[in-house]
Amino acid sequence: MATVGVVGLGAMGGRIARRLADAGHELVVWNRDPAKAEPLAAAGAVAAASPADLAGRVEVVITMVADPRALVDVTEGQEGVVAGVSEGTTVIQMSTVGPESISRLASLLPDDALLDSPVLGSVSEVESGTLNVFVGGPPALADRWQPLLSTLGAILHVGPVGAGTAAKLVANTTLVGVIGVLGEALALADGLGLSREAAFGVLGKTALAGQAERRRSAIDSGEYPTRFALYLARKDADLILEAARTGTELRLTTAARNWLADAEEAGLGEADYSAVLARILGNTEATQEESSER
Ligand SMILES: NC(=O)c1ccc[n+]([C@@H]2O[C@H](COP(=O)([O-])OP(=O)(O)OC[C@H]3O[C@@H](n4cnc5c(N)ncnc54)[C@H](OP(=O)(O)O)[C@@H]3O)[C@@H](O)[C@H]2O)c1
Repeated sequence: MATVGVVGLGAMGGRIARRLADAGHELVVWNRDPAKAEPLAAAGAVAAASPADLAGRVEVVITMVADPRALVDVTEGQEGVVAGVSEGTTVIQMSTVGPESISRLASLLPDDALLDSPVLGSVSEVESGTLNVFVGGPPALADRWQPLLSTLGAILHVGPVGAGTAAKLVANTTLVGVIGVLGEALALADGLGLSREAAFGVLGKTALAGQAERRRSAIDSGEYPTRFALYLARKDADLILEAARTGTELRLTTAARNWLADAEEAGLGEADYSAVLARILGNTEATQEESSER
């Protein structure tokens, strides 16, 4: 068992910390809002004073924060993770960020100290240990931390540092695209006067069958309980488009990003990302009320 530090105790990081503690690892935690560290401290984790303090106390630091800005904030400066690491400490970066953030972090750490390991799957997959963990980094380092990462799910070693983040952006291209196409297909059905029942019957015969079934009750009820916040999905679409600037033309992803941005402007940023369906279908009012009551 290892001494593990978790920086960022939001929806994903808090559950990752809990699962690692339950597996018997010694845990040190830090979160910008210290209130989120309290339940873990009450269960036996050490609450560090800063990310640097945390890094100085552990063998491996996991970072799981919102976006590139947050990653800079928790890794750089006097209080950041980089200031606290010593020879032999590993940093496993799990937040969804872009390739530039990973290069920047790698350049600040000693050689072979970084695994770039974003994840596919959401809060229930963390709890059940069924995430898909994309790992970019040196094979020996990936092997060393394989038992720890296996506690969280299935590991896919996809290449050197940076490849994990590339893999995650590829996976989330499908996530933002599929939800947008589902919304537009249903909007077209509405426009052509097809009943919702008939529309779902038709979609059940297509490549989107599983996704349509999964989203049906939320569409019918207008309730989109947050697993993966819509503002984070919009952030991911922006990261994908930024990373593709080198010449890959992503017209569909651009359109999907714009739907997410419109939904965010309509007040749905904190709702689940699938609430973009409410925006595409023109049902934002009921959904806004739901998410503001949360
Ligand atoms: N939720 C999902 O289903 C899911 C699935 C796969 C990947 N992801 C990715 O995992 C990461 C975390 O997602 P999440 O759902 O756990 O998000 P979340 O619940 O919104 O938590 C965000 C975390 O980032 C911290 N943070 C934000 N800005 C910060 C800053 N400037 N400095 C320090 N800490 C900062 C927050 O601290 P405070 O508590 O102080 O605000 C919180 O701990 C994101 O990159 C997301 O895209 C999420």
